[in-house]
Amino acid sequence: MNVEKFSAAGGPIGVFDSGYGGLTILSEIRKALPDYDYIYLGDNARAPYGSRSFEIVYQFTLEAVTELFRRGCHLVILACNTASAKALRNIQQLDLPRLDPSRRVLGVIRPTVEAIGSITRNGHIGIFATPGTVASGSYNIEIAKLHPDFAVTAHACPMWVPLVENREADRPGADYFVRQEVDALLEADGDVDTIVLGCTHYPILYPKIREAVPEGIEIVRQGDIVARSLADYLMRHPEMERRLTRGGHTQYLTTENPDKFSALATLFLGHPIAAERIEVL
Ligand code: DGL
Repeated sequence: MNVEKFSAAGGPIGVFDSGYGGLTILSEIRKALPDYDYIYLGDNARAPYGSRSFEIVYQFTLEAVTELFRRGCHLVILACNTASAKALRNIQQLDLPRLDPSRRVLGVIRPTVEAIGSITRNGHIGIFATPGTVASGSYNIEIAKLHPDFAVTAHACPMWVPLVENREADRPGADYFVRQEVDALLEADGDVDTIVLGCTHYPILYPKIREAVPEGIEIVRQGDIVARSLADYLMRHPEMERRLTRGGHTQYLTTENPDKFSALATLFLGHPIAAERIEVL
């Protein structure tokens, strides 16, 4: 098999998502670790991933990770629960050894599951996620490993990503779809005291979700959890930290129209950005 060689020079931290959702993770990572350089890649042309099969999410994610490696990233964060659920393990176990065993790809599910242990009081956890993440059972599996006594109810919200991507998140129509899913989750387990937003798009809907979820139930957003976990990882892995370039620069790449990406990304981030279109194969 033809194995591609990547340059050994250090580079930015890669942050990958199917579309815009990973920007909610990137902005928290940059707040916590502002000195590093970043490349954000959104596979907007092929999003959403949430309803795609295991094989396709794995293939698309591997292509994106390989592209970020080509562009100098030694460390890539899959800032997408669907990709973390369906592709991360294969990439770590099957692809990294062949592509470059010294590079690392990290996901968002494990750090989230580690964090909820100190948030819940009664061990009843609700997960809102894409149909793909829910079908993968990844949250249930990871929570069972770390917190075997917890009761987990994972609930798919197929309409939430389209609402966000179509700029409907703060419009009245979103209320209906948010309340519908919140009611269904609480009907399945009325004792839930902690709800994880297990899709990186969902923090954009946070104000509506907070309104619909009864007070006293914690709503966990992943951005600062992933940022803290990354900071901790870099402290524990100086050999990786030394390979990261510092300059505080972020490059935004998308597989779709860059003007469209820039306009919506600006909305997500609260400041203007310029994006470039690339092909990911
Ligand atoms: N942002 C992705 C996640 O966290 C989902 C978006 C999509 O369906 O592509 O799961």
